[in-house]
Formats: sequence, C-alpha cells, structure tokens
Amino acid sequence: MDFVHYCTYCLLSRGLFTRIFLRPVIASSSIAKQAVKMVKGNKTKVINFAPGPAKLPQEVLIQAQKEILNYESTGVSVLELSHRSKEYTALNQEAIDNMRKILDVPSNYKVIFCQGGGYGQFSFVPMNLMKEGGSADYLVTGTWSSKAANEAAKHGQVNYVFPKPKAFTTIPDVKEWKLNKDASYVYYCANETVHGVEFDFIPETNGVPLVCDMSSNFLTRPVDVSKFGCIIAGAQKNIGCAGVTVVIVREDLLGRSLPYCPTSFNYKVVADANSLFNTPPTYSVYIMSLVLKWILKEGGLTEMAKRCVMKSSALYNILDNSNGFYNSLVESTARSRMNVVFRLPSEDLEKKFVSEADEQGYMHVKGHRSVGGLRVSLYNAVMLHEVEHLIEFMKHFQEKYSK
Ligand SMILES: Cc1ncc(COP(=O)(O)O)c(C=O)c1O
Repeated sequence: MDFVHYCTYCLLSRGLFTRIFLRPVIASSSIAKQAVKMVKGNKTKVINFAPGPAKLPQEVLIQAQKEILNYESTGVSVLELSHRSKEYTALNQEAIDNMRKILDVPSNYKVIFCQGGGYGQFSFVPMNLMKEGGSADYLVTGTWSSKAANEAAKHGQVNYVFPKPKAFTTIPDVKEWKLNKDASYVYYCANETVHGVEFDFIPETNGVPLVCDMSSNFLTRPVDVSKFGCIIAGAQKNIGCAGVTVVIVREDLLGRSLPYCPTSFNYKVVADANSLFNTPPTYSVYIMSLVLKWILKEGGLTEMAKRCVMKSSALYNILDNSNGFYNSLVESTARSRMNVVFRLPSEDLEKKFVSEADEQGYMHVKGHRSVGGLRVSLYNAVMLHEVEHLIEFMKHFQEKYSK
C-alpha cells in the first residue's frame, strides 16, 4: 500500500474522513440534524413497559423489517397485498392454525379476526350472543368490564353479579355472586389492565355460556378453551399490534345475532368467510402471525406462563419488601401478572418516579389517567432482564427518596 492509499485508508477506517470532511457539510442541512437525533435516540437504552400498544419481540420487528418491501417474493409489501391473493390467504390460514395449535382450540370452536378493537367487542358480544329481550350477567371487577356492562345495557338487561365495588382491588368471593340461570351469557374480564386485577380461576357458570375479555392476558398461560362460550382479545398487548381483535367462539352460539347486528361484525358471517368477509386489517394480522410463530418457537404457553410469573413475582417482591414505600393496593390473590399497579407515598413522588424513569429509558410507567399512580406492564415480549433493570432503578429511587 503506498503512502497516499495508506492515509486514505486511515481517514476512512477511523471515521476521520466523515468527521473532517463530511460532517460540516451534513450538519448544515436540517435532514442531517434529524438523522443525528435519531442516532442519539438509538443509543439511548429504552425499555418499553407500555400497557398497550406494547412492546413486540425484537425478532418479530426484524422479520417485518426484512419483508417490508418484498413479502414472500411477491415484489410488494404485505401492506400492498390483496387480501384475496394466495399469499395473504395462506398467511391468514397459518395465523388461524397457529392460534388453534398454541391454545389447543377444540374443533367445535371458530377462530375469527375482527376489527373495532376491544371496545367494539363490548357491543358485538351482546349483538351476537344476547337473546332478543334477554339478559346477561356481568362480573364487574374494573374499568373494562364496567364499560362492557354499560355497552351491553344498550342491547338487553344487564345483571350485576355482585354490587360494583367502590375500589377495584379484588375479585369478590364466589359465595357472594348472584348468577342468573336464564342469562344469555356470563361476562368477565380476565385481567383488568387499568387496576391490575386478574382472575386466577375460571368462573363456574353451570352451563350458561361464559364470555371472557382476555385482551390483556391472552396467550400468557395455557387456558382450557372448552370452558368458554366466547373469548375476545385485542392483539396490541401480548400478540401483535393494534387493529385486529381475536374472537374464539363455540359453534353452537353462532347464528343467533340480534337483527340489527352489522353484517361485518356478525360472528357467523365472519367465521363462514374464514375472516375474509371484507378487507381485514391485513398488516395487523401479519404482525400477529409473526408473534404466534415466535410464541411457538419460544416454547408455547407453558413457557410464556413461566416467564410471566418470574417477571411479576420479581416486581411484587420489591413492592412487598419496600417498607410501604411502594404500595400495591390489589389483594394478593387478585394481583395481575401483566399490569403491576402501585402507589408511592405522595403524588409528588409519583411524578418524580415517572420523570426519572423516563430519563433512564423506562417508558410508560405512569398509571392510567383515571386512577393515577404507577403501572408497569409485563407482556410476553418484555424480558426478565428488563424487569431486573427496572428493579435496580426502583431500589435506587427508594434509597434516594425514602428518608
Ligand atoms: C382488558 C381490555 N379490554 C378492552 C380494551 C379496549 O380495547 P380497545 O382500545 O382496543 O378498544 C382494553 C384496552 O386497553 C383492555 O385493556
């Protein structure tokens, strides 16, 4: 290598060329300023504890990035692919098949993909399952089941199985429940995302179809699907991004929708069309299909359940051993493995916690605006080492402010 080539090599390989010659030119343009900001952003370590839309497995994002311009050699993005194409039809079928496999869905159940979010289902459930002039039983244990009951009351009579508690911190004793044997269905929310209250059992309804909103703990542990008439779950917490809601419904409950139920939200119509009745949220189904493959590869629901317990126990352990500095209001038997909700001695400290956590890259630890406090969400894509990281921060925070 001669002297000139050697100097050029040194300049290029050590980044000196960029620093000396290119940076002043680049830095003058506003586009470059944005680019520098992005590099800075990438350097900051961020851990996403959001309640949903939430963290996705990194492998899923990398796969989606690889395929964004050219899906399965079609030459186009999934975003641009017809839902009637053979590639999308295959993707849709694979997602349904993997869902059935992961949850061991019995053959007399349909798996369908809907739009309209979890909130939409609060109406679609009664429109599909409430008998005309009928009633439904609602177990109200937090914000989401409360909202679901309000929506259902527009379509029939709603019976509250137990009086609405003043504070949602527990699941009332089964002995106090008043179930109605003539109800069209019994409804509950398996995990209340806002209050951090989770059922650790499946309610017994003595033959009345059981409907469950599993939006925030779906595919986080094995579930006996045969115990349910219908399961609904938005994807944006544990199994994908916003836009698609999964419905798993027992076949004998199909075909009894109220006359005004919109066709595109009629479970039978959507099931008969294999979730291709009208244009589905194709990209959301695609992301979900990648997450389902990831769950299978990681060891399925037994593994997801193990991880959830490890992550949430580590965090609750810190709360319980903080001499009341971190305070969980939820009764121990109803504590959520997904959304760990807690308070600090003052609102001022809670604000400090949120802002210092944010500075350190722990995103979205603020409690829901309706209840305040703090909430750390530990969905499937959040790793144990990330929780351990947060725990270290929490220990330092307590040391600093507990005097
Ligand atoms: C348990 C539960 N059900 C329903 C919903 C409402 O879902 P969406 O915002 O998709 O309508 C949420 C939202 O966070 C939720 O956590």
